[in-house]
This record gives sequence, C-alpha cells and structure tokens, in this order.
Amino acid sequence: MRTYWVETYGCQMNLSDTELMEGVLASSGYVSVSSPDEADVILVNTCAIRENAERRVLGRVAELNRVKTSHPDTLIGVCGCMAQRLGSRLIQDAEYVDMVLGPDAYRSLPEIIEQASARDAGVVDVGFRPTENYEGLEVRRQSGVSAWIPVQRGCNYRCTFCIVPHTRGDEKNRGPDDVLAEVRDLVERGITEFTLLGQTVNSYRYDDWDFPRLLRAVAGIDGVRRVRFTSPHPNDLTERLADAMAEEEAVCPQIHLPVQSGSDRVLKRMVRRYTRAEYLDKVRMLRERIPDIAMTTDIIVGFPGEEDEDFEATLDLVRSVRYDDAFTFKYSPREGTPATRMKEEWFVPDAVAQERLERLIRLVREIAAERNMDEVGRTTEVLVEKRAKRGELLQARTETNKVALIPGPDDWIGRYMDVVLTGTTGATFTAFPIESRQERTSRVAGAP
Ligand code: 5AD
Repeated sequence: MRTYWVETYGCQMNLSDTELMEGVLASSGYVSVSSPDEADVILVNTCAIRENAERRVLGRVAELNRVKTSHPDTLIGVCGCMAQRLGSRLIQDAEYVDMVLGPDAYRSLPEIIEQASARDAGVVDVGFRPTENYEGLEVRRQSGVSAWIPVQRGCNYRCTFCIVPHTRGDEKNRGPDDVLAEVRDLVERGITEFTLLGQTVNSYRYDDWDFPRLLRAVAGIDGVRRVRFTSPHPNDLTERLADAMAEEEAVCPQIHLPVQSGSDRVLKRMVRRYTRAEYLDKVRMLRERIPDIAMTTDIIVGFPGEEDEDFEATLDLVRSVRYDDAFTFKYSPREGTPATRMKEEWFVPDAVAQERLERLIRLVREIAAERNMDEVGRTTEVLVEKRAKRGELLQARTETNKVALIPGPDDWIGRYMDVVLTGTTGATFTAFPIESRQERTSRVAGAP
C-alpha cells in the first residue's frame, strides 16, 4: 500500500486542486496518512502570489526533507504556482525536491511519481497543456457539507503586480454541462453549499453562456441551498450579475470584490481597468439590489508610485464602502511582472509601506468590528460545517460568509440552523441555536 501526505498553501483554487490531486492519487491506490513521516509521497501545493508566501513554503519544504533521514525513499513533490514559476530552478536550489509539478500535470501524477522513483534526478513537469480540461478526474473532497467547484482556470487580465497569468496561463472556462453535472452529483451525496471558483470568475464565458446564466443554473438545481462565487473582477460585474444575485434565493448575499487601491492613478498603473468612481458605482448597484450584502475586498499598499495622497484615497474608499472585512497586503515585486520594471524612484520604502499597512489594518478591523457588533442580537441562519479547531464548539457559517461558533453535537454538522448571534470578537461570532431545521420539520410531522 502506498501512502501520501499533502499540504496546501494559498487560495481556494489551490484547496480545490489539492482535492483533485488527492482524488488522482486515491484512484491509483494511494491512501492518505496522518503525518508526513508515514508517507511515501509528500506533496506541497504552493502559492507564488507574494514573496513571503514563497519563502515560508520553501522553509517548510526544507523542514519536510528531514523525513528522508528515516525514510530515504520518500518522494517530495512541490506543486502549484510556485512550482510553475520556478520550475527546475527549484531542484537546483533544493536538491531534495524530487518532483516539480504545475497544475496541468496533476492528471499524470501517478506516472510522474513512477518516473521520480525510478531515477536519481528530479522530474519537472510545468508545461501548460492547452488541451487539459480537468474533466473526468475523481475528486477527493475535504468536506461533506460544502464544495468548491472550479468553473474557470487561468486569467486573461494583466494586472501589473500579478504573477497569476504567468503561473496559471490564459483563461480557460469549463463547459456548463460538466459544471452542472458535477453539482447535481454532489447534491445527491448530500452537499448543499457550493462555491464557484475562478481567478476572475465572473468573466466566465462558454458558447452562449455567461456567468450570470451559469450562476442561475446552479442556484436553480433542486437541493442547492447556498451558492457563492470567488473572486469576481469589478470590471465584469454587470447588472445582469447583480440581478441574478438578487433574484436567485440560493445565491448568498455576499461578495468578495477586490479593489486593490482607492486611487485612480494607482489603479491605472495596476491596469485594473476601472476607476474609483466606477468601482463605487458597482458597490452602489449591488447594495441597491441586495441591501444586506456583505462585502470584502483585497487591498495592496505600497504599489510603485503610491504617494501619501493615494494611500489616503484608499483609506477614504474603505471608510465609504465600510467593508465587512479586507485582506491587506504590502506590494511584493514578482519577477517578470510589469510593475517590477517601473521607475526606480517610484518604489515605496518598506518602512512607509509597513506604516500604511498597519494604518489600513486598524481601520479595516475597526469597521469590521462595528459592523459585526451591529449584528449581535440578530437571528440568522447558519450552516454547521465542522467541529471548531478548539474542540468544544461547532463552526458554522452565516449566509454572509461569517463564522459563528455554536455549542452542539457532531450530528448537527451539515444542518441549517437558526441561531441568535450572542457576541463577536470583532471578526467571528458566538451564537446560540434556537432550534435546528430538521427538528422543527420532524416536530411538525409528529415524529418523536
Ligand atoms: N504583491 C502584493 N499583493 C499581491 N496580490 C497579488 N499580487 C500581489 C503582489 N505582487 C494580492 C491582491 C490579490 C490577492 C489575492 O493578492 O490583492 O487580489
């Protein structure tokens, strides 16, 4: 029996890719183990989005190499965006890496493992395969409650800071029939919540299907209770999409809409293809149709040429949108991206970027806490996902994608419950169940 261990870093697409790799391995007879020390094959699914993400993963891969002192035959594979970006350079720098695999190689994982175990030199497979459509692969899902559904891979935008077009290639969309068949199959297996994934998911196109049509079709499947999608690009956020979100009951009132900066000058240099005013118009359009929509975003500080007044414009935008939360990053130059070739005098000193980041984080947290405080006392529906990390509470999720911790037994996992939000730490809620939906129906039906 051959065994594997996988670690995942980075975005939801990577989590989804890991499920795919695990499925490929399971289909060829591998079983997962609970520690890297017991594994014949160790895979690290990596992220290349920022330098510190890469540095952390490289450190972790070096640490995993210790497994080879007691198990010299264990193979270490690095997968995902960092593998795609560095290719054979990874093996030159870390000779204990046996396999370097880009996403388009995952179908061939079993053969690549064979090759790597048959020879001394590492195997590198980072070519883009234009014909790889990821269909027909068994997927091993982490959750029996909620599922990631990749509908698009790659990206046709060329934001000047971003490495993703280099690591994931051009946009490829999945046929709607395959997407809908996958969702139907999962509904039959008891999954009720779905998140459609794509780098700029709402630019989805396939024949005469666009994203709003796909979203409505998924939401309309019997048994689909909740649908989310991530991440949309503001440029592709149309009225058609806002209407679909407002009208389809299963589509959750929640959106992650990366803004990156509140300054037109910076947005232009980032080649985001929208202005601050256009972004704010989209926010308004969404809130008109979906008044309770929760909004989150991504923001980069210290992009080349960002001056104090540009940063102030970002703070101002955050104050006016009042996001439910935001992921905030210091600009990190990525080799080969256009922003690295901008004028040297534009580069923002680290101390300045750090200070901006800290101010931004304080503002984001303050607003998030205020918004969440306002919700304490309300009754809302949650889906119970799993036992929370610390054990005694269950982790549940509101329609607006916020975490609520509730006391309860394991067999509530997978249920929708009405809860009262009893408190907030600022970021997450504590909550108390009123009664579970299943209990209510059975009582109505007169069952014990
Ligand atoms: N530096 C800092 N942050 C980045 N992001 C993408 N590329 C970079 C970079 N070079 C951020 C963006 C994106 C999120 C996933 O990561 O905000 O939306």
